[in-house]
Amino acid sequence: MSESDPPAPPAAVDFGFQTVLRGEKAGRVRAVFDSVADRYDLMNDLMTGGLHRLWKTVLVDALLPRPGTTLLDVAGGTGDVALRWLDRLGALADARRGQALVVDANERMLEVGRDRALDRGIIAGPIRIAAMAEALPFSDRAVDACSIAFGLRNVTEIDTALREMHRVLKPGGRFACLEFSRVALPLLGPLYERYSFTVIPWLGEQVTGEPAAYRYLVESIRRFPAQEALATRMRQVGFERVHHRNLAGGIVALHTAWRL
Ligand SMILES: C[S@@+](CC[C@H](N)C(=O)[O-])C[C@H]1O[C@@H](n2cnc3c(N)ncnc32)[C@H](O)[C@@H]1O
Repeated sequence: MSESDPPAPPAAVDFGFQTVLRGEKAGRVRAVFDSVADRYDLMNDLMTGGLHRLWKTVLVDALLPRPGTTLLDVAGGTGDVALRWLDRLGALADARRGQALVVDANERMLEVGRDRALDRGIIAGPIRIAAMAEALPFSDRAVDACSIAFGLRNVTEIDTALREMHRVLKPGGRFACLEFSRVALPLLGPLYERYSFTVIPWLGEQVTGEPAAYRYLVESIRRFPAQEALATRMRQVGFERVHHRNLAGGIVALHTAWRL
């Protein structure tokens, strides 16, 4: 190693409140989503009282969908955001009106999404691809818009994933990230803490039988960069005109940016 080489990344990373070897985190995260995939959508509705639907609609609006364009939704899980994008463009009825690609590390999440879309009679749904956010299987400047919703927190190499999402966007492409963040309303803070550490794992146990998966969820939120810190990291990989806005008092933040 020469003096000009960048320092090696730390060997240990957070997995919720635990510390694990960097190389182990992706497998641990995969196991979490394997264990809850079948009930993932139902849990989202119960945990957020349906609010995640509204947040995802705000996300799709922020991507400024235009007819005929392609969205890449990274860590897209069962495909909620991609379906909203297609619906907004009228592309569920006519594929010429727009396209959506869903990338996710977890094949089970993709399968559940595919089955659920077919059950709803959706044939022209998104294209679903199993891949890591840190190594997107697309050429440079391939897509018009790129999103990641409640996914970045789970990714081991956050900066690499941000760099990849910037790389695959066309110049003039729009990026949006929806993620749990830091509560900005003083009165909401203690209530939200109590809800997070008691109700969510309890609900997770009742609905999925996996309280540990939902303890990981609430812990990982506390380890994820706050609003400004994430905006800085987005700028560092090349995103421009980075803005963020709080939703539900900062329980969730929406970061938007452009690749120019
Ligand atoms: C909380 S879910 C969000 C799913 C979807 N975006 C939504 O909002 O409903 C997080 C997703 O990130 C995926 N994921 C975790 N780490 C990943 C990685 N490194 N690359 C790609 N996907 C990843 C998981 O498999 C899971 O489907």
